[in-house]
Amino acid sequence: MGYNVAIDGPAGAGKSTIAKLVAKEKGYIYVDTGAMYRALAIHFLKKGIAPEDTAGVVGACRDADVSIRYENGVQQVYLNGENVTGMLRTEEVGNMASRTSAIPEVREKLLELQRTLARENDVIMDGRDIGTNILPNADVKIYLTASVETRAKRRYDELKEKGEECDLDTIAQDIKDRDERDMNRETAPLKKAEDAVLVDSSYMTIPEVVSEICSHCK
Ligand code: DC
Repeated sequence: MGYNVAIDGPAGAGKSTIAKLVAKEKGYIYVDTGAMYRALAIHFLKKGIAPEDTAGVVGACRDADVSIRYENGVQQVYLNGENVTGMLRTEEVGNMASRTSAIPEVREKLLELQRTLARENDVIMDGRDIGTNILPNADVKIYLTASVETRAKRRYDELKEKGEECDLDTIAQDIKDRDERDMNRETAPLKKAEDAVLVDSSYMTIPEVVSEICSHCK
């Protein structure tokens, strides 16, 4: 059995940035479960299936194989044998993932993969339902959040940095819509596990958040 740290929270709270740093400091493997939902989303997009077409999505799950490999300690996601890691982080893929992840069969498809990784390795696993559903017995559970304004501003700065055109209000609205979907779906909605430590990063620096989380971990 691996040592398991679960880190859940809304989009843009900084989970992946923080989890990668904690993983490095503690020698855990960082497992990004959002990337798995995104890989399936690419599969649905490639097949031209609309997110509202539940039967189509469920059917398409049958011929999707998502697997994870670690190359130099960095997670690589494979979809039917193709490395799709570089294609995961677009708004289109993120929105598709957010919509299709509400479908129970989509979640079921990824459950064993996530549990197996946690059983066989010391992991910090980030997602939406890790502490509540995937790893209810995790050694440490963190719920990492930040205000909508803070998350929107961070995303805005990130896009500006990349030289992309963007609008702060549109980004804030997207974040609110995503929260609404992730928190209110019927299957495994995003919520803080009762035994999770709440960390609000709105007014914290990255090193402060990392050190706070590390202080709870072995
Ligand atoms: O963390 P992310 O933005 O890469 O995740 C993309 C979407 O996938 C997110 O909007 C909701 C879904 N997701 C989920 O339902 N459960 C997880 N454990 C991780 C992600």
